[in-house]
Amino acid sequence: MTRHLLEIDDLSAEEFGQVLTRCVSKHPVQVLEGRGAALIFEKPSNRTRNSTEMAVVELGGHPIYLKPDEVDIDGRESAEDVARTLACFHSVIAARVFDHSVLVRMSEAVEIPVVNLLSDLSHPLQAIADMLTIREEFGPDLSGRSLTWVGDYSNVARSLALACAMSSVSVRFACPDGYGPSQKDLDLFKRTGAPEVRSSTDPALEVDGTDVVVTDAWYSMGQEAEAVMRRPIFEPYRVDQALMANAAPGAIFLHCLPAHRGEEVTNEVLDGPQSRVWAEAANRLPAARGALEWLVIASEAER
Ligand code: CP
Ligand code: NVA
Repeated sequence: MTRHLLEIDDLSAEEFGQVLTRCVSKHPVQVLEGRGAALIFEKPSNRTRNSTEMAVVELGGHPIYLKPDEVDIDGRESAEDVARTLACFHSVIAARVFDHSVLVRMSEAVEIPVVNLLSDLSHPLQAIADMLTIREEFGPDLSGRSLTWVGDYSNVARSLALACAMSSVSVRFACPDGYGPSQKDLDLFKRTGAPEVRSSTDPALEVDGTDVVVTDAWYSMGQEAEAVMRRPIFEPYRVDQALMANAAPGAIFLHCLPAHRGEEVTNEVLDGPQSRVWAEAANRLPAARGALEWLVIASEAER
């Protein structure tokens, strides 16, 4: 059976652990030797494009970047036909899309792995990189640890919460009214294995004693028109030194980047001693490499 990675819970907890192990291996299996990987981007990218292209190279393959107007999913041809065409030439399709359902349709049309490079729903490769960063800090046994998400419950937040749940890390959310996780997602995190799941509108309360503080932009790509309306709503959710002081001694700060400095996070925190954002960015490469390696091997082993 072909394996896809559209969201972290496409993997079992055991498989998620196998992916993390491949990410830290010094000897990547050359699963893409002599093969291609199509990388489609409907939105801008710095980290995801560069790390995924280099991951394909490290696995022996050849990445081909496709810009939005070049492919024009559901404009020039349907998402299914785009995917079927790319599967004639490539062993992996990876895509950054506005609408998550486009990824689902592509994955249902082909028998090669389809990987989510960010959708409106999720950002699984970012969550894998974040978990690598958290493990570098606290070790592989994360039981008893907690992570607090502050601000907008974004695509990044959902995937990271699932990754935490699979790693026995408790998850807490401090989000403005109307911008937090649904009860359905909170139940999902609990069911997936998070020892404790909390959600409120109070950043100081949710950061109190936590090990990892994470935030994201107050408005995601595609939501720029809401920026002016959102700023006053999110103002109390800026991560600054006073908020970080509530966290556990030894707590770290993460941000997927790009950061809007001075909005969701201050320079002091982003550039300060608790910040691990550059290690996190660097971990995007092993995360992409480990995930691609696992997906290709798992898909071909089950055939
Ligand atoms: N964190 C992340 O996905 O960054 P890019 O949008 O630059 O790829
Ligand atoms: N939530 C952000 C993440 C960027 C990497 C967005 O979707 O724009």
